[in-house]
Order: sequence, then C-alpha cells, then structure tokens
Amino acid sequence: MGRERKTKTTVPDDAPARVVSAGSLDEDQRFDRLFRPKTFDEFVGQRKHLDNLRVFVQAARQRGEPLDHILLCGPPGLGKTTLAHILANEMGGELHVTSGPAVEHKGALTGMLTRLERGDVLFIDEIHRLSAPVEEALYPAIEDFRIDVMMGDGAFAESLPLDVKPFTLVGATTRTGLLTKPLHERFGLTLRLDFYDHEDLAKIIRRSAQLLGIPCEETGAKLLAERSRGTPRVANRLIRRVRDFAEVEGEGKVDRRIVELTCQRLEVDAAGLDEMDRRLLSILIEHYEGGPVGVETLAAALAEPRDTVEDVYEPYLLQQGFLGRTPRGRVATKKAFAHLGLEQKSIKGQGSLF
Ligand SMILES: Nc1ncnc2c1ncn2[C@@H]1O[C@H](COP(=O)(O)OP(=O)(O)O)[C@@H](O)[C@H]1O
Ligand SMILES: [Mg+2]
Repeated sequence: MGRERKTKTTVPDDAPARVVSAGSLDEDQRFDRLFRPKTFDEFVGQRKHLDNLRVFVQAARQRGEPLDHILLCGPPGLGKTTLAHILANEMGGELHVTSGPAVEHKGALTGMLTRLERGDVLFIDEIHRLSAPVEEALYPAIEDFRIDVMMGDGAFAESLPLDVKPFTLVGATTRTGLLTKPLHERFGLTLRLDFYDHEDLAKIIRRSAQLLGIPCEETGAKLLAERSRGTPRVANRLIRRVRDFAEVEGEGKVDRRIVELTCQRLEVDAAGLDEMDRRLLSILIEHYEGGPVGVETLAAALAEPRDTVEDVYEPYLLQQGFLGRTPRGRVATKKAFAHLGLEQKSIKGQGSLF
C-alpha cells in the first residue's frame, strides 16, 4: 500500500469557487481521501489507459524495476492526481507529492530526490510550471538516476555527481503545449485523459453516494451524470450538494427530483453548464456577434486570468461543440446560440466551419 508523503502542499488551483469548476476547492480536499480510488480496480473509465498501465506495472514488477516515467495530461478534475496515487500503490512504493511552482530552486529538488527510496513515485503536479534551472537539474535524475551537486564557492566550485535511487516520475499537466520538448521527451509514456461519458460518471456517482451513505436511484445517478461536465471532480461536488438537498428538502435519497432541484438552485443547466460557462458564451455572442475573439480579450471581458479560461472553462465547451477555435480566435457555434436561446445573426468569419 503506497504511503503518501507530502513533500510540499500543492498550490491551489486558480479557479474561482463555482460548483462545476473543475479546479479543486478546500472542501474537495477533505472529501478526496474518502472518494479517491486507491487501486486500478476502483478507478472508473479511461479503459484504454488503464489496461495499458496494468500491463506496464505488472511487467515492471516482474523485472523488479521501477515503472517508466509517466506524463498525465488533461483538464483539471479528471483523475491525474488519483492515478499518481494508484500507480505508487500498485507498484508498492511511496508517493512523494509536489508541484512545479513549489520546487523553488535546485536545492529543493536535490533534497527531494535524495529522499526517494527504490521504487518510489515522485509526483510533480503542474510540471509545466517548473523553473528552467530546476527542470534542467531534473534531466539527469530521470535519465540516469544521477544529479549533479555543486560543492564549494566561486573558483573552487565543482560539480559532483550523486546517485539517486531508481524511481518513477509521474508528471501532471493541464497544458501539454506548455511543456518543453526536452522534458516531454524524457517521459516513457504520455497519457491524455479524456472527459468521462455519462455511463462512467454515473458509476462514479453511485460509488460516491455509497461512500457518503446515501441511497441512490439509477435515474438520479443518470441525470446527475449528465450535469457533471464530463468531470469526476464535478460529479463528486454535485453529489455532496444533492445529499444536502435530499436530507433537508427530499426523502434522503438521490432521485431525479432532488437532482433537478439541486441543479436548478445551483444554476447548473441541462448541458451541465454553469453561470460562468453561459457568461463566456453570451459575452462571445452578445458583445462580439459570436466571434472570432482573441482569448486575451475574452479573458479580460470575463475578468479571469487567461490560464483559467484556457484550462478550466474552454476544454469542456470545446469538447461539447459550444465553442470553436480558429486561427483568429474563439467562435460561438450554432449549438451555443441555440443553447442560450439566441439567434445567430451573422456568421462572419466562421465560413463553413459550423
Ligand atoms: N476514474 C475515476 N474514478 C473514480 N473517481 C475519480 C476518477 N477520477 C477522478 N476521480 C475523483 O475525482 C476527484 C478529482 O480527481 P483528481 O485526481 O484530483 O483530478 P486531477 O488531479 O486530474 O485534477 C477525486 O476526488 C477523485 O476521487
Ligand atoms: Mg490534481
């Protein structure tokens, strides 16, 4: 069983506190321990990746070697941190957790690497945010299990090689595009996590309901799955609010009526979009006639950092076909106009794309 050692707490996501935001909130962290699957068998969905990982873990174990370094990519809330925990657990190693911005200098990295035991997993969240010197210091560690330590000062300074015990680096990023090529190439395996389908989300919801000790009707789980933005973290957040409404205004169980009520009160619509998603689309449509609009302009109009717009809001809207990306900026699709009940006056610049 992998024991977790927090080398440094991960930095909180920049996402604002909205119920369908995929970024993690304080309250989520309390529930993560309860909800987080600990083994491959408990992890729902992402079948293709899971099947491969099982083989790689078994092969590495049979050879008595650490697992190859793995990069996990995808929008927040899809299970990257969960998979890092599971990999350490399935390999029988200890998990060491940190994040790109938390490793402030080479010394901090050296300290972390020298504490690793054979077969441990070092998880670096937001790995695209490592500083350049730290990233470069990481290269020999992941390639040859060796680090160069500077001894002495000035003219007497010399670089001494130091061995690191064979370990597995698991990196997570919401933005593969921001990763440098040399770092990306040093991972033996890159897994891109996709949004979950309704069936898998319903499974996650039933499991979470059971862990919370609240009965869950099939139809309630299905409806909630449709409202969860393809994201397990959102599903787990919504189920907790559904439980509140069920206990106070319902019959103490997850059924369709109480899911409807919860979503209505939290302003989560039939497509799983919340107020922020609808605001993004309506700014695009009402202020810019559907686009194209540069992402910077869109972020400024929403008063949100560009990163949050790109990492948190856009991926689901793109995947669901509410939003399009063109070389000249973002465009609202026909589906977005229809969803907001607005008429598409002009489709300038969109050509025959939509
Ligand atoms: N495949 C899955 N099956 C069940 N629960 C999941 C799955 N993926 C994620 N979760 C749950 O969703 C929440 C967010 O997952 P997390 O691993 O923190 O996402 P990420 O690191 O990608 O932002 C956790 O509480 C976790 O338990
Ligand atoms: Mg995470």
